[in-house]
Amino acid sequence: MISVENLSKTFSGTRALNDLSLEIEKGEMVALIGASGSGKSTLIRHMSGLVEGDPDSGSLILGGHLIQRRGVVSKRIREIRSGIGVVFQGFNLVGRLSVETNVTLGALGRAPLWRALLARFDGKERELALLSMEKVGILETAGRKAHTLSVGQRQRAAIARALTQKADIILADEPIASLDPESARNVMEILHKLNREDGLTVVVSLHQVDYAIRYCPRTIALNAGTICFDGPSVKLTPALLREIYGGNANELLGIEHVTEKRERAEQRVPRFEETPAHFAAAAL
Ligand SMILES: Nc1ncnc2c1ncn2[C@@H]1O[C@H](COP(=O)(O)OP(=O)(O)OP(=O)(O)O)[C@@H](O)[C@H]1O
Ligand SMILES: [Mg+2]
Repeated sequence: MISVENLSKTFSGTRALNDLSLEIEKGEMVALIGASGSGKSTLIRHMSGLVEGDPDSGSLILGGHLIQRRGVVSKRIREIRSGIGVVFQGFNLVGRLSVETNVTLGALGRAPLWRALLARFDGKERELALLSMEKVGILETAGRKAHTLSVGQRQRAAIARALTQKADIILADEPIASLDPESARNVMEILHKLNREDGLTVVVSLHQVDYAIRYCPRTIALNAGTICFDGPSVKLTPALLREIYGGNANELLGIEHVTEKRERAEQRVPRFEETPAHFAAAAL
């Protein structure tokens, strides 16, 4: 579904992506992790065709469409992008428009240009927008201006927009950064559900490794623009993260959570809330 081959990106001397290659199959849910500056956003922006790689880069293919090759973005990128849902933080909502209009605008890529410019949609598109808002639990905000939404609701509106777009790939750049734990779980659960139930391919960049372990079977870890781990998320032990990132590992570790979750996954230790009260009391 996603194929990146020898992608490099240099920003005035900074090598943000370093000869990076990866394959993601249809229906996978993959976490992209890495310390600040490791290249997560740059990779996602390349995947969505917003940035072109260096001229010596190979190719980047999404859903069978060539996004870019040797640093040249496809001329059909607008059309291709209509099948890719991109969720950037606070990036793709128009604050003064209603939530419903924002979500319905997801259909824009599929509408003829003149209709898109006039922002006129038929009943089907509106129905799909309402269904998408319902799916992510923000239907009651439909009539509100987007700028009045909480950050978590904005993320959900952006996901609803991707659904209206009928995207089969969702690329989400740190959709849970700056969210409280409950909203973060909520957003991750929505992505997880879309992946599991609707078969969407999801790539999500995350700062916290514990969310990757919990929601994404596979993690790709970046360090200075290079892939330093690609495999089952449960293998990302604190020790391995320290080996890869040294002092930067703490940034990715909600330490106590990671240890706890890894133990849970690997040793089948019952979760705290599943531990019988008398057992927990005995442990004190
Ligand atoms: N437009 C740009 N101009 C110059 N340098 C850039 C630009 N965009 C990214 N970089 C550099 O490329 C590197 C990778 O940045 P990127 O934003 O992809 O990292 P990130 O992993 O998303 O970090 P964060 O976790 O802080 O969001 C950094 O060194 C950054 O400073
Ligand atoms: Mg980033």
